[in-house]
Amino acid sequence: MLPETLICLLNAAIIQAATAQLSLNSILSLNAQNLPSPPTFSVPAAETLTITVAFCSSGTSSPRFFVTNSTSVDDPGPDGGEDVYEILVEEGLGTFSGIFSEGGVLAVDTDNSNSFAFEIGASDDGPLHQVLATFPLLGDTTSNQALIFSPPFDPPTLVEPSYPNYTLPGPSLSPPSPPDSSPNFTIVIAPTSSQNLTSLPQTACMISSQSSSGNIANESLWLRDEDGWRTQWIIEGLSPQTNYTAYVSEDGKKLSGPMYFTTKSAVFACPLAAFLPYCPGVTYAVPLPSPQNAALSLYDNTNIPSAISDTLTAYFSNFTTTLTTQACGRDYYSPLQTCADCQRAYFRWLCSVSFPRCGEASSASATASSSLSSSSSTGTSSTPPTLTSALQLQSPTSTPRNSAFPSLNTSYSVLLPCIETCQAADRACPNFLGFACPLARFNANSSYGVGYIDGAEPEQEGLGVPGSAQDRWGNIWCNLV
Ligand SMILES: *[C@@H]1O[C@H](CO)[C@@H](O)[C@H](O)[C@H]1NC(C)=O
Ligand SMILES: *[C@@H]1O[C@H](CO)[C@@H](O)[C@H](O)[C@H]1NC(C)=O
Ligand SMILES: *[C@@H]1O[C@H](CO)[C@@H](O)[C@H](O)[C@H]1NC(C)=O
Ligand SMILES: *[C@@H]1O[C@H](CO)[C@@H](O)[C@H](O)[C@H]1NC(C)=O
Ligand SMILES: *[C@@H]1O[C@H](CO)[C@@H](O)[C@H](O)[C@H]1NC(C)=O
Ligand SMILES: *[C@@H]1O[C@H](CO)[C@@H](O)[C@H](O)[C@H]1NC(C)=O
Ligand SMILES: *[C@@H]1O[C@H](CO)[C@@H](O)[C@H](O)[C@H]1NC(C)=O
Ligand SMILES: *[C@@H]1O[C@H](CO)[C@@H](O)[C@H](O)[C@H]1NC(C)=O
Ligand SMILES: *[C@@H]1O[C@H](CO)[C@@H](O)[C@H](O)[C@H]1NC(C)=O
Repeated sequence: MLPETLICLLNAAIIQAATAQLSLNSILSLNAQNLPSPPTFSVPAAETLTITVAFCSSGTSSPRFFVTNSTSVDDPGPDGGEDVYEILVEEGLGTFSGIFSEGGVLAVDTDNSNSFAFEIGASDDGPLHQVLATFPLLGDTTSNQALIFSPPFDPPTLVEPSYPNYTLPGPSLSPPSPPDSSPNFTIVIAPTSSQNLTSLPQTACMISSQSSSGNIANESLWLRDEDGWRTQWIIEGLSPQTNYTAYVSEDGKKLSGPMYFTTKSAVFACPLAAFLPYCPGVTYAVPLPSPQNAALSLYDNTNIPSAISDTLTAYFSNFTTTLTTQACGRDYYSPLQTCADCQRAYFRWLCSVSFPRCGEASSASATASSSLSSSSSTGTSSTPPTLTSALQLQSPTSTPRNSAFPSLNTSYSVLLPCIETCQAADRACPNFLGFACPLARFNANSSYGVGYIDGAEPEQEGLGVPGSAQDRWGNIWCNLV
C-alpha cells in the first residue's frame, strides 16, 4: 500500500498532465473559479475550425482567450509568439476561424477569484455561438398581450402543378403538419426601461438567464408565410402602453434580437386573431368583440364567426374556379407568373382586406427617422417629415370595411393594408380576371397604406419610406399579411 502523501502527489501529477479537451461541434460550459490547471484546452484538428467564446456573466473581470495552432506552443498567452492569436470578445461574443490541421491549444487568461461563467465551442461547420442576422418578428400586441414569432426555418417548397392535371389547392381548412424537428427557440421579454438587456453580453446563455415578463399562454409552430416555419408565442400578462425588449435564443447558442415593441393603451378594444389556416398571415388584432369562453383570449379557427370564414372560403373557391378556366400550365399569360402564383397573391390580398387590422399610432422613434433620411436619398429636404402609420379612424357609424364583421359600437383605428399586397395580385394574375388596384394619385391612400414599401409613384419598387411594412423598433406602418 502506498503512503497517503504519495497518492496525493500522484493525483496532482495526473491532473497536471491531463489536458482538458474541446470536442469538435460541442460546447463546454465553464466558470473562471473552477478551470482545469493549467487553464488550457487542446483544440481538435480541422482544416477550418471556428472557435467561439460566449460570456454568460456580466462584469468587468472578464477572461481573455488565446489560441495557437502550433504544436510547439503549450501555453499561448498575451506575450504572443508564432501562430498565437487572441480571440477578441465584443459584447460578450468572440469568434475565431483558422486552420488547425494538427490541432492546437486554447488558453484562458483569467483572475479566478471571481465567479464568471462562459462557454467555449469549436466547430468545423460554422460558429456554434452566434448573433443571428434575423430578428424576432412582432405579430401584434393588445393592451396586455403580444404575439411574437421566432426567426423562420424550413421554408416550404412551393408545388407548381402541371398541365393537364393543373389542380390548385382550395382554401386550407387545417394547418399543414409541422416539420419533425425544429430548433428549440426560447423567448425573453423585459420592459425596456427597467431591465436593460442590451447592456448585457449579447449571448444566448446570458440573455436566457434573465427573468422574462408576462407568461407564455401558447407556444406552437406556425407557417406564417413563405419565409418558413416559426415558433409563435402568445404572451399574456403584460402592462399597457409599455415599451418592451424581446430576444429569442436558438438551442441556447444563437441569439436573435433585440426587437422592440410597445403594448397598446388600456382602452384598446380589439382582440388578437391567429391560427387561421386559410389566412396564416392574419396574426394581429381585429375589430371583433372580446371572445367569450375561449381557452386563449383570442380568435382562432374554432371561434371566429362563421359569417367571416364562410364568406372568405367561398371567395377563395370561386376565385380558383374562375382562374382555372384559363388553360393554366398550357397557355402562359406571362413569362414570369403562373396561375399558382396568382392564386397565392390573391389569397394574401383577400386575407388582408377581409380581416381589417386594428392599430394605434406608432411613436416614430429616432432610429426610424434616421433610416428615413438615408432611404430618401433622392429627397432634397434635410428634415424628413414625421412618418405616420396608415391609420384610418372608424366610428360606430362608418361603413365597416368587411360587412361580415359586427359593429363594435366604439371608435377604433384601422391599420390599412399595404398597397403592395394589391399590386402583387395585380401583377401575378391574368388580365381577364379584371383585378386592379387604385392609383396613388387617385385616392389610393383612402383604402391602402401607400408609399411605405415601394414609392408612391410607379417604378419606385423598394423606394418607399421607410422601405418596409414594419421594423424591429416596434413601428408598424401598414398591414402586410
Ligand atoms: C496555422 O495558422 C496559420 C495562419 O492561419 C497557417 O498558415 C498555418 O498553416 C497553420 N498551421 C497549421 C499546422 O495548421
Ligand atoms: C392531379 O393532381 C392532384 C394533386 O396533385 C392529385 O391529387 C390527383 O390524383 C391528380 N389526378 C390525376 C388524374 O393525376
Ligand atoms: C442600456 O445600456 C446601453 C449600453 O450600456 C445604453 O446605451 C442604453 O442607453 C441603456 N438603455 C437604457 C434604457 O437604460
Ligand atoms: C395553442 O393554441 C392553439 C389554438 O387555440 C391550439 O390548437 C394549440 O393546441 C395550443 N397549443 C398549446 C401548446 O397549448
Ligand atoms: C429548450 O431550451 C431550454 C433552455 O435552453 C431548455 O430548458 C428546454 O428543456 C429545451 N427544450 C427542449 C425540448 O429541448
Ligand atoms: C360563388 O359562386 C357561386 C356560384 O357561381 C355564387 O352563387 C356565390 O355567390 C359566389 N360566392 C361568392 C362569395 O362570390
Ligand atoms: C417608448 O419608446 C419610444 C421611442 O423610444 C418613446 O418615444 C416612448 O415615450 C416610450 N414609451 C413609453 C411608454 O415609455
Ligand atoms: C352594439 O349595439 C347594438 C345596439 O345597441 C347591440 O345590439 C349590439 O349587441 C352591440 N354590439 C356589441 C359588439 O356590443
Ligand atoms: C392622400 O393623398 C393625398 C394626395 O395624394 C393627400 O392630400 C391626402 O392628405 C392623403 N390622405 C391621407 C389620409 O393620407
